[in-house]
Amino acid sequence: MHFYRGPLLRVGQGSFAVLTAAALLVFAGCSVRTPGKVETSFMQSAKRRLTIGGRSDMNPLRADEENIHAGQRIFGSYCMVCHGLDGQNTGVPFADHMSPPVPELSSPTIQAYTDGQLHWIIRNGIFPSGMPASKEIFRDDETWQLVLYIRHLPAKGSLGEPEVYGGEGLPQEPRGREVK
Ligand code: HEC
Repeated sequence: MHFYRGPLLRVGQGSFAVLTAAALLVFAGCSVRTPGKVETSFMQSAKRRLTIGGRSDMNPLRADEENIHAGQRIFGSYCMVCHGLDGQNTGVPFADHMSPPVPELSSPTIQAYTDGQLHWIIRNGIFPSGMPASKEIFRDDETWQLVLYIRHLPAKGSLGEPEVYGGEGLPQEPRGREVK
């Protein structure tokens, strides 16, 4: 017997795609009638991500020790109030209670942003969430250094808790794992 599977397989994949699309439409239809909490926040974050600019801006700085350390120092003196010294909320008492909650910057969702988008987010903040704009606070090169730090975050918890929350973290003396 001679089996010829090629086109059949392709038809199979095609109908799978159609089925998936149909399932998505049904799902979308349901959420229009009864917008659940999950769908609503999904739509909000999808919409928000469309408004984030800077996608193709390239980081002009090298990812060397000096720049990553500089980013860590700035992060440890300002961003840590909400993001912790490690960018993963360590020791920040209210991180989970903000709406939306403070995300772990090491997470795949955040790391999926391009360098340019991270730079844009830091400069412009995310309205109307709690993420503030800091273009009036940091120079452009400092903002790119922050982006480098976000790309080289140390292991979660390895920098201790910020002093402002009673911890012993010392932002002036970086001792991250990847940042040597
Ligand atoms: C007052 C608290 C606060 C401070 C200070 C703060 N952030 Fe945020 N940040 C947030 C919150 C809340 C979010 C979640 C925003 C959202 O999902 O809409 C966030 C999100 C982010 C994100 C991810 C964006 C996303 O899609 O969720 C990045 C990157 C970020 N912050 C970087 C920084 C950097 C760098 C600094 C310091 C320059 C900083 N943040 C200072 C509260 C803060």
